[in-house]
Amino acid sequence: MKTCDITLFVNREKYAITVPVNRTLLQVLREDLSLMGTKYGCGTGECGSCTVLMDGQPVLGCLTLAATVNRKQITTIEGLEEDGVLHPVQEAFVEKSAAQCGFCTPGMILKSKALLDKNPTPTTDEIADHLEGNICRCTGYVKIIEAVEHAAGQMDKNL
Ligand code: FES
Ligand code: FES
Repeated sequence: MKTCDITLFVNREKYAITVPVNRTLLQVLREDLSLMGTKYGCGTGECGSCTVLMDGQPVLGCLTLAATVNRKQITTIEGLEEDGVLHPVQEAFVEKSAAQCGFCTPGMILKSKALLDKNPTPTTDEIADHLEGNICRCTGYVKIIEAVEHAAGQMDKNL
């Protein structure tokens, strides 16, 4: 298999690695960098559990070839906490009990962060629309949407 050399920045750390051209970003994160917070669900772009941020925008790790992320900034759930302090969206998911089994949670949180970064005061419908591609089999989505609304309120207070 043909390989290529890439440099990527994951959670503010620089990595220079050689990858087969068909290796996905999800495989690199979980298998090469041991960042297991990003989940492997369907592997076909249907569930959103592999969502990470690339230069601040949500992407599906299972559909993104590592060879295409050269010199990109990747944020996984492990990188949201800073100096031991959880991100407000993480805090809100805890406070509102928006995680049950937790399998969808990293993707939900990262996707929600991306929404609040560009729209700090989303409506309930905007939150639901934004999270549409992320499947949760446990919560029924109500608590997840409440958590994002709560995080928006908390972040607004801190401005
Ligand atoms: S594992 Fe990527 S969308 Fe399901
Ligand atoms: S909390 Fe279990 S899939 Fe969402």
